[in-house]
Amino acid sequence: MDAQRPDDPTAGDCNGLGRLERTLPSSWYFDPVQHARELERIWYRHWVYLCRAATVADVQSYRTFTIGSQPLVVVRGEGGVLRAFYNTCRHRGATLCPEPAGRLPARSITCPYHGWTYRLDGGLARIPSAGRPHYVDVQGTRLYEVALKVWRGFVYVNLGDPERTLADNFNANLEQFARWPLEELVIGRSLTKRLRCNWKVFWENYNECLHCPGVHPGLTGLVPIYRRGIMEPRDDPAFAEHAGSPDPLHRGGLRAGAATWSMDGRSLGHEFASLSPEERRVGYHYMTSLPSHYLVLHVDHVRSSRLLPLGPEETELSIEWLFPAETLADPAADIARVCDFSAQVMAEDGAVCELAQRGLHAAAHERGMLMPEEYDVYRFEQWVRDALAPAPVNPDR
Ligand code: FES
Ligand SMILES: [Fe+2]
Repeated sequence: MDAQRPDDPTAGDCNGLGRLERTLPSSWYFDPVQHARELERIWYRHWVYLCRAATVADVQSYRTFTIGSQPLVVVRGEGGVLRAFYNTCRHRGATLCPEPAGRLPARSITCPYHGWTYRLDGGLARIPSAGRPHYVDVQGTRLYEVALKVWRGFVYVNLGDPERTLADNFNANLEQFARWPLEELVIGRSLTKRLRCNWKVFWENYNECLHCPGVHPGLTGLVPIYRRGIMEPRDDPAFAEHAGSPDPLHRGGLRAGAATWSMDGRSLGHEFASLSPEERRVGYHYMTSLPSHYLVLHVDHVRSSRLLPLGPEETELSIEWLFPAETLADPAADIARVCDFSAQVMAEDGAVCELAQRGLHAAAHERGMLMPEEYDVYRFEQWVRDALAPAPVNPDR
């Protein structure tokens, strides 16, 4: 999560919270009015990850998405330019591309309702009408375009605040992951599932490992420090007593003999050659882009997870496992060892997220309280509070 804030209630050198902090109000996890507010102020004003650019590879290919209630289409146009539009016709608002993905039959988008036709750059090209509507400014009418950026092969859009930089979204310095060849990686497997929980429940679970000892038997076998319910050495108030310990139980990183997150800890080979010895030793690195995306980077693959809110109590989770092309071409590299491992971890997380969601409905439970290890949950909730706060008034205006 973000760097420490001046008012951060963590306890000195230790990462943990040093005072009681309450969670967000329980109603924020199911109230439709609150959900609409979060769509408006968070989902429609931040860069949201949609897909790998390579999944919209050819001119005329497209994919459609929905962020909250907003329908979008991403199209590869002339010269290979990728654009995003609201998936909405300028005539009477019909959906332009009803399928999740496809290839347009021509270098244009034709509305299936009355046949208005648009160029791939969004400009209106043709209106079928015997009445000759001279009052329509054909030249000046375009599809409603949405800001789109491609960061290292990942396509992001921003519906309402494109001035915000993409780097603002990330918890980490983007250069930090320069040694992973992210743009070259290829999707080896993908998985989409609906979780019956609010999107914030997912992120809160992501931001703590207090649940790990009870929920993730496989993962805690691979990452010993997680067995202690913590993520990093400094989460332990007694961390100084173990300073210099080579034991991953205290130092973090993978168990001895393991190289990656896989069923047996073995790597698939074709490892990323430019990683530092420390990056290899640790074996897993997180990169988070709120509110929609995170990556977990390993020595032989990268896992990309995308969240999209389907409703106050429903969230879509889409996972893409990314590999070097050589791995996918190598019959000896069994990617199932990698994918099955993290799919199991994600299934365990999904199950506890759904448990949390159901319990939050208890009228008596207005708010919870955070444990010291949940300092990143606290920071996430502060991020939500800040994003929902009204913009500061500019006294010069
Ligand atoms: S709504 Fe698209 S052509 Fe009429
Ligand atoms: Fe978990």
